[in-house]
Amino acid sequence: MKVTISDSIKYIGVDDKTIDLFESQYIVPNGISYNSYVILDDKTVVMDTVDKRKTDEWLKNLEETLDGRVPDYLVISHLEPDHASNIQLLADKYPSMKLVSNMKTFTMMPQFFTLDLTDRTLTVKEGDTLDLGNHKLTFVMAPMVHWPEVMVTYEMTEKVLFSADGFGKFGALDTDEDWACEARRYYFNICGKYGAQVQNLLKKASALDIKTICPLHGPILKENLSYYIGLYDIWSKYEVETDGVFIAYASIHGNTKNAVLKLYDILKEKTDKKIAISDLSRSDMAENIEDAFRYSKMIIAAPTYDGGVFPVMNDFLHHLKIKSYKNRKVGVIENGSWAPMAGKVMKEYLAGMNNIEVCNTTVSIRSVMNDDNLTQMQQLADEILK
Ligand code: FEO
Repeated sequence: MKVTISDSIKYIGVDDKTIDLFESQYIVPNGISYNSYVILDDKTVVMDTVDKRKTDEWLKNLEETLDGRVPDYLVISHLEPDHASNIQLLADKYPSMKLVSNMKTFTMMPQFFTLDLTDRTLTVKEGDTLDLGNHKLTFVMAPMVHWPEVMVTYEMTEKVLFSADGFGKFGALDTDEDWACEARRYYFNICGKYGAQVQNLLKKASALDIKTICPLHGPILKENLSYYIGLYDIWSKYEVETDGVFIAYASIHGNTKNAVLKLYDILKEKTDKKIAISDLSRSDMAENIEDAFRYSKMIIAAPTYDGGVFPVMNDFLHHLKIKSYKNRKVGVIENGSWAPMAGKVMKEYLAGMNNIEVCNTTVSIRSVMNDDNLTQMQQLADEILK
């Protein structure tokens, strides 16, 4: 994919459209890009490498762009193997090239590589600069966005932020799709737990005059940057992006589903707000996580199973807990034919999260919804919309 940044800053990344699961857990229907860049100046810099799945294609891009030059530096933003796999290969290929990163990176690096780092490293810390000739890099530490060693790099002349995983998105670069949908799924599933750390980075970035954002995944962002930064601000503060209700349900034989569909109709009669609904057994878990964070309210509905809650709901709530789901209002619908436990277990999960307001009304179905349940659902609908 041909991507233009500027005469001096070149894209040498690659698209991966054959990976089955990114990070062995996320479906990527339109693939993913591993972004890497070269800055051509008096000194030549390679900004990160790519996943080992795409080494050959990336090396070809690199060599074509270098056109015989030898890189002076490799800047390492992040050691995760989707970006760092080729550090050793590049260091061996260019023995005079220095590796530029922070102390934490160089402490962790021997865990991944047997590279002799003696006289090969340039260790930088917050605010340090590196002169390339016409371009000048400054380094900004971004711990836990998404690993502890992460740093971002700001190029001062062309005002480019190399943002590491930040502002990344699923989807190969030639994919024509809405940015927010797949960037949101990427954000909440990969960085969602680290909102405070993303806020720290946004605060530091706000002091920079940024014209272009070059992430390690997804498109290069050049226009309307306040839109992307605004969404990151909402997401990392765990604020509401869309005022509406997300109904996440599980149903074994369709009876809980029937109740949920009835609740959907009741809600639709009461409000014009967006109501989204998802069958947890038959949808992408990462998409469900994303929607839970996106909306202001959530209804969770599930049957009892083996004395607890149906497994896919258990999995969903576990994911929400580890991703720091918070600051939301949640309503509960349980089903149980002889000893209903689902509601209790779901509420225990919610109690373990921060600032979750649980609706007083719990709809408790015994196998098939009855008239009492319909009354409860009217109450729950009123309560969740309040
Ligand atoms: Fe794209 Fe955290 O690596």
